[in-house]
Amino acid sequence: MTTTTNALAIAARGLHKSFGEKKVLDGIELAVPAGTVFSLLGPNGAGKTTAVKILSTLITADAGDLHVGGHDLATDPQAVRAAIGVTGQFSAVDGLITGEENMLLMADLHHLSKREGRRVAAELLERFDLVEAAKKPVSTYSGGMKRRLDIAMTLVGAPRIIFLDEPTTGLDPRSRHTMWQIIRELVSDGVTVFLTTQYLDEADELADRIAVLNDGRIAAEGTAGELKRLVPGGHVRLRFADPAAYQSAAATLREAARDDEALALQIPSDGSQRELRSILDWLDAAGIEADELTVHTPDLDDVFFALTGGSDVPDQPEETVR
Ligand SMILES: Nc1ncnc2c1ncn2[C@@H]1O[C@H](COP(=O)(O)OP(=O)(O)O)[C@@H](O)[C@H]1O
Ligand SMILES: [Mg+2]
Repeated sequence: MTTTTNALAIAARGLHKSFGEKKVLDGIELAVPAGTVFSLLGPNGAGKTTAVKILSTLITADAGDLHVGGHDLATDPQAVRAAIGVTGQFSAVDGLITGEENMLLMADLHHLSKREGRRVAAELLERFDLVEAAKKPVSTYSGGMKRRLDIAMTLVGAPRIIFLDEPTTGLDPRSRHTMWQIIRELVSDGVTVFLTTQYLDEADELADRIAVLNDGRIAAEGTAGELKRLVPGGHVRLRFADPAAYQSAAATLREAARDDEALALQIPSDGSQRELRSILDWLDAAGIEADELTVHTPDLDDVFFALTGGSDVPDQPEETVR
């Protein structure tokens, strides 16, 4: 089956799910083009895993028009299952047996012949740098190795759409970067990746589009840049070594937030090239020379503060000084 570039790998309209009285997903809309990375971003308990479980046929929705890989989840879950791979938030690998045995089990589940199963397992173990560990029980693996094995197992069935539920939560920075590299390689092979994460930097690194899930609804959707421009918190920080230079700059830059102790000024900014240039021009014109200039982009906290802080998202974050 061929898919055109603008075909949707995942499409959800009016997705609802409650557990008892608790509304977890309250009318979610998702549209994920084939061959892209889509990130569902949200804090603990936001409903990310619930969304993944529904879209991967593990549990059913209360309502919604849902299509994955072009198949209707309500009428053809079997076809959806054949098109997808899922790596859960909590590892599905069996710790008592070896990595290789886990892979061969997976190959059996996918009805590969013994020979084909061994070939695919060997290839994936190699690809995910698990050859040395392959004969050891998984219980001896590090967190990063377990996640790699998890993904390798997911790929045994050569799925075109992959759900990764918090693939890097709890990993050390190096394993996190390895995982990011793996995800990039999947995408370059044309696989569609649906990634949940609590980390904006991760979504920023990997995702073509990001949806922020909060209180059962999509609070915002867009590219990483679009989301960050929605929120205050981005700023340029100027630090001065000389207290007199600091005082004179502070007197000139009245709208900058002061940090008298650090001799630093913060100017709200989205970090875009255009804004940076205008700030630099302006500092030059005012004859201000800072000893250090750093650009801070908003982080997840800023995004959630803006999207869920009770008040509306400010239209003009430039005017907010923190
Ligand atoms: N099977 C279940 N029964 C009852 N409540 C559930 C069940 N699964 C999830 N929840 C609740 O739904 C909410 C969202 O959970 P989850 O989808 O796991 O969030 P996330 O993955 O974003 O951390 C949480 O409040 C959780 O306690
Ligand atoms: Mg979860």
